[in-house]
Amino acid sequence: MDHPDARTLWQGALRAISGIEPQRGEPATSPVARYLDPQRHERERRALRRLPHAVGPAARVAAAGDWFATALLGVPVLLSRGDDAVLRAFINVCRHRGAIVAAEGECGRGRSRFVCPYHSWTYDCRGALTGRPHEGDFPDLPRNAASLVELPVAERCGLVWVVPEAGPAFDWDGYFGPLAAEIDRLGYDAAVASPHERRFVQPSNWKLVLDANLESYHFQYAHRATIAHLFHDNLVQQASFGRHQRIVLPKRSLAEAPADAVSWELLGRHSNVIYFFFPSTFLLWEGDHVNGFSVTPEGPAASACASWMLVPAGHAKRAAEHWSRNWKIFWDAIDEDFALAASMQRGLDSGANRVLNFGRNEFACDLFEREIDALVEAEATGGWSSRPTAG
Ligand code: FES
Ligand SMILES: [Fe+2]
Repeated sequence: MDHPDARTLWQGALRAISGIEPQRGEPATSPVARYLDPQRHERERRALRRLPHAVGPAARVAAAGDWFATALLGVPVLLSRGDDAVLRAFINVCRHRGAIVAAEGECGRGRSRFVCPYHSWTYDCRGALTGRPHEGDFPDLPRNAASLVELPVAERCGLVWVVPEAGPAFDWDGYFGPLAAEIDRLGYDAAVASPHERRFVQPSNWKLVLDANLESYHFQYAHRATIAHLFHDNLVQQASFGRHQRIVLPKRSLAEAPADAVSWELLGRHSNVIYFFFPSTFLLWEGDHVNGFSVTPEGPAASACASWMLVPAGHAKRAAEHWSRNWKIFWDAIDEDFALAASMQRGLDSGANRVLNFGRNEFACDLFEREIDALVEAEATGGWSSRPTAG
């Protein structure tokens, strides 16, 4: 799994470590209304419904009859692998009178039909309405006009991605753009295992959580007791791919690694390689596994967090303790970020600040925040594009 950028990134990291070319952007400010205003929240939620978000490990729906039910930006979502082996996503809402069909948070295997608990309308694993009591009571609504509403869905990097708004065929190649080939090269599209998962509601604006993953200015302080010793202070190597970003955080071990044998694998061992898929999904590639999470808004001061560890087939034989240990290291650090995001939310509510300040090494946060501004603005003016990675 080699990569044309491995040597460039490696050499860039070495130059940054030695202080020759540390990457920096422009300082910026971020109005606190972005994180507090209920109207802004509503506009973001509407705009985000038109974009993909990771919703769960693809391994959970690997075989015909596999399914799971979740929620995304307030939309109940049902994933089902049909008897034709096609993975489909639906709005998990009955076409009769709107009850939730499959219980949210549940999953299973070998399912051939979904029965609405209210009046027993029954859908097959392809979403078609196949039966209902007293068929003759609905002379104006033929079964074939009452299938579950289908949503755009894709599998990539061991995850299922869904756009939670029905619409014309979604341009998935345009969405992943040039990063598609890069994440495919990591080898996570085969059947991956997902030994760990976590879901919870975070008491802060979703963007405060995501910002923490786009800078390393905080590492030596916020993560003093966990991962600070592994990393250089205040160094990032950032690249934009349309609205997506790749962030490489060099570890201290990189300087001692054998530079003559540079490979993507070695880069992953001696740095954190983070893929941020706009607007909500992070993948942290760690060589033998990926820890991914998505964070979406639930309210101005609440966000839905879902996180998964993904292990490719080639590494699946490693002992369970290895994955548990890595999952703990990951979450010990992320929990520190999430606790600080909650603290910031309370701080913002105090009125002490009219803006947040991004320093020159927090430029990736500013890029993200400005893309969200542009998305919300485009939604308001009808100028939204389904090709977020264009350019
Ligand atoms: S609402 Fe589903 S069967 Fe009536
Ligand atoms: Fe952090």
